Amino acid sequence: MTKSERFLRACRKEPVDCTPVWLMRQAGRYMEEYRLVREKHSFLEMCRTPELAVEVTLQPIRRFDLDAAIIFSDILLPLEKMGVSLSFSDTGGPALGNPVRSKQDVLNLKAIDPETDLAYVLKAIEMTRQGLGGTVPLIGFCGAPFTLASYLIEGGGSKYYKLAKGMMHTEESAFHLLMEKLTDMACLYVNAQIRHGAQAVQMFDSWVGILSTTDYRTYVLPHMKRLFSSIDKSVPAIHFGVGTYHLLPLMEEAGGDVIGVDWRVPIDEAWALLGRRPAVQGNLDPTVLFTSRESIEGQVKDILARVIGSPGHIFNLGHGILPGTPVENVDFLISSVHDQSKLAS
Ligand code: CP3
Repeated sequence: MTKSERFLRACRKEPVDCTPVWLMRQAGRYMEEYRLVREKHSFLEMCRTPELAVEVTLQPIRRFDLDAAIIFSDILLPLEKMGVSLSFSDTGGPALGNPVRSKQDVLNLKAIDPETDLAYVLKAIEMTRQGLGGTVPLIGFCGAPFTLASYLIEGGGSKYYKLAKGMMHTEESAFHLLMEKLTDMACLYVNAQIRHGAQAVQMFDSWVGILSTTDYRTYVLPHMKRLFSSIDKSVPAIHFGVGTYHLLPLMEEAGGDVIGVDWRVPIDEAWALLGRRPAVQGNLDPTVLFTSRESIEGQVKDILARVIGSPGHIFNLGHGILPGTPVENVDFLISSVHDQSKLAS
């Protein structure tokens, strides 16, 4: 089996020669090559310039023995085209200029045409596929409706999600309409990415874990079901969230060929909660990469021991790699996953 097949085979729960591994936020500030590009360009400029997006997408692939690439972009970019202003500060994260607070604000949001509005992402996907030359597959992605809705309503990141939960509970029809519009956008956008060369797609529902199971069932599940049933079935879809222990059975019901889980739940327990239907992705705590080789290897062995012998595990971190992560530990992690899974199988 060639390296290029490992990741996609694992997504389909087919046997592999060793466990495939990629890392969320694998192109980023922990890499010197990235920081050199970033010194000269803003983050948004890098996202909007296909040559720069391709370069940073390929940097971790050149440097590490990763089994998949993920297109360099951001989940918030489509929101600009729906009519809000977007900026990133170097310290405070993203800010949305004119947040959505009323039914009228929701009605004002525009539908997007990815072929024109996000042409730069689609172009970067095509160019990255060429640059990869078939070595490893390319993952496309989109923010899931709830996570995007929370940014739109709060106007940025949030600790308690008071405004987002407030709209959900007091302006139910406005909230559902917002979720519908975001679901429409996400369907169009990921299918366009697939047409332009994405070989898998990941839906980031990063902040959905803050909801109760009751709220998830009422306000999120119907939209996620529609989303997953509308995604082109020719490529695997990954469904990811953070802090989702209580939501795993509902996320499975919502859909996805692969479910991504953070580090708070042992991967075998998560898989059992998912009824073992989808493949699983995860779930090393990103802070472990700041420790020693012994500790990294110990945690890799523990994760692998929980799933070895059952095809359908993709190794990843439980959330994005952190700035300041030592690159030599990333290298060590990847060879450890490959070596230990070969030994164990
Ligand atoms: O995984 C990858 O390598 C692909 C690229 C990618 C980025 N963001 C690049 C990025 C992906 C898949 C994302 C998704 C994303 N963006 C999410 C969902 C995933 C998650 O982390 O839960 C969210 C919530 C966002 C929104 C966002 N973008 C935030 C909150 C921030 C600031 C926080 C931070 O880490 O600085 C960003 C900026 C961002 N997105 C950076 C990168 C490499 C850092 C930009 C920089 O200053 O160089």
